[in-house]
Amino acid sequence: MSGVERVRVICPLNDGDERTLADDVLDGLTRPFKELSPKHFYDEVGGELFDQICDLPEYYPTRAERSIFETRAEEIVAASQMAELVELGSGTAAKTMILIDQAAATGTLKRYVPFDVTEAMVRRCCEICGDRFEDAEIIGVVGDFERHLDYIPAPIDGEPRLVALLGGTIGNFVPGSRRQLLRSIASLLRPGIDHLLLGTDLVKDVATIEAAYNDSAGVTAAFNRNVLNVINRDLDADFDVEAFEHVAFYDRGREWIEMRLRASRAMHVKINAIPLEVDFASGEELRTEVSAKFTPQRLADDLCAAGLTLEKTWTDSEGQFALSLSSPTL
Ligand code: SAH
Ligand code: AVI
Repeated sequence: MSGVERVRVICPLNDGDERTLADDVLDGLTRPFKELSPKHFYDEVGGELFDQICDLPEYYPTRAERSIFETRAEEIVAASQMAELVELGSGTAAKTMILIDQAAATGTLKRYVPFDVTEAMVRRCCEICGDRFEDAEIIGVVGDFERHLDYIPAPIDGEPRLVALLGGTIGNFVPGSRRQLLRSIASLLRPGIDHLLLGTDLVKDVATIEAAYNDSAGVTAAFNRNVLNVINRDLDADFDVEAFEHVAFYDRGREWIEMRLRASRAMHVKINAIPLEVDFASGEELRTEVSAKFTPQRLADDLCAAGLTLEKTWTDSEGQFALSLSSPTL
């Protein structure tokens, strides 16, 4: 590792890339049914609100996934033989620490690559991991995992790589783009040596799912509305954020949660940096997120469509959440 910092951050975003928000807003808010990508939730405030969501009594996915790591980390490390962990959408990597601790204790860990769209989160994660895992290389990547996977350093020769996408983030993609994303993630994996570790929330009773996205403290509502604060700040817009109501419901046919923002009155909004002017009718809804829930069949089908073979699935004791290990189909 001589000549290269052991702990470093790669940041491929440049001025042109800041147009993504403008492009997404222009595309999403001029559609007949208005829509925004959930990746724009996560500025620093949004990241903090997400952390608060993870601690809510109603939001079961984080606790369920954490309990799988607590009971299965040893098995996951043994099955994957991971020397390198690449984590997409790493956030604070709180649960991931359990897995990295296990790999470090086993003596196999050589490199951790946290990858997230929020720069502050990546930098904080690298600092913490740099101190905690003194024998490993820590390479943060700030980027969009739909566009910047090429910036991930090449795998270490002959050393198994585990790519992780946790927290149910894969569920935030509709079926077509979900399979596209899985296919591009699969291209990071070498057949016969590397694996994907995927966290998926499972189909369960509707009341449990809907409660998780309609918490009594209103944190999810604040998280949902925060996307309008991001647009106001970054695109010089004048959304009256409080005039939008949080809506979250389970679509039984599609087996996914939809989060929306409903205009409580008619509004005319100016987004000066694009420039764009948008009208909202009273009661009109803007879709901000889908969060798909999985059956074993949906998981196997999505992986298969991406050229991956499911090797192992672990669930928590209540069967709420699944972690699965898959590898490129030979
Ligand atoms: N993996 C963590 C965080 C999940 S929240 C957990 O399981 O708790 C989703 C994370 O993915 C956020 O940190 C967000 O910033 C990141 N993210 C969302 N869309 C992204 C994208 N397109 N590219 C990179 N990171 C993204
Ligand atoms: C990150 N993602 C998997 C979360 C989810 O449950 O879909 C984001 C979230 N939205 C509302 N609450 C949490």
